[in-house]
Amino acid sequence: MDSQLKRALTDRIRYYNELGIYDFYRRQTKLESEVPVPFVNVAGPETIDTAPNNDPFQLLRSIREDIGDCTRCKLHLQGRKQIVFGVGNPNADLMFIGEAPGADEDTQGEPFVGRSGQLLTNMIKAMGLTREDVYIANIIKCRPPGNRAPDRDECETCSPFLMRQIEAIKPKVLVALGAVAAKTLLAVSASMMELRGRWFDFRGTKLAVTYHPAFLLRDPRQKKETWKDLQMVMKELGIPIPAKAEE
Ligand code: URA
Repeated sequence: MDSQLKRALTDRIRYYNELGIYDFYRRQTKLESEVPVPFVNVAGPETIDTAPNNDPFQLLRSIREDIGDCTRCKLHLQGRKQIVFGVGNPNADLMFIGEAPGADEDTQGEPFVGRSGQLLTNMIKAMGLTREDVYIANIIKCRPPGNRAPDRDECETCSPFLMRQIEAIKPKVLVALGAVAAKTLLAVSASMMELRGRWFDFRGTKLAVTYHPAFLLRDPRQKKETWKDLQMVMKELGIPIPAKAEE
């Protein structure tokens, strides 16, 4: 393989990885399959099929393309290494939404891969799922310096892309991790006490709020409460709850 092609393929694979895609399959070529080229209308190549694209994978790809090498807010000047788009199954029933990438996420380009991420991964496993079953994203896609909370203008600039991701994936349930995610999505000012343990309607999708894993690392006693929130979500999604875990 010549070096130019190799570089192009490396770039393309990195790009798919950014979208959370790690498995690749070789599609049959026309010669192998002897079938006509899809998407070209029989009436002639000038009438290429322009049907609306509802494929969540393609929609996510075009959202990522629209974000580009974003300079829309000040975070691009404040040391972010890369945009952390989101990761997981484009057809997920369940989507977790955190606050903002931290240092590990900024380095690896994937949400929730640091210490909080390990805890979130364990929470997902406790639900009988894997990270590959769900979709994980944040309110904002760039790391705020020193892990400060996102500013309002940053949330307002960035969250429309998250809204498009939610519209593309169409999960059955959204889980907001922590107060920043909950308050931004629901546009309310309320305490976690008021927000947890109940369902909200988010543009027609059920939304639950639970503690942010970083908070649970600081106060592990709240893990029990979090597990109650996750069980509420499991019931909604028809995921069986292990008998001894049920309260
Ligand atoms: N905290 C978040 O809210 N999101 C991440 O991706 C990592 C830590």
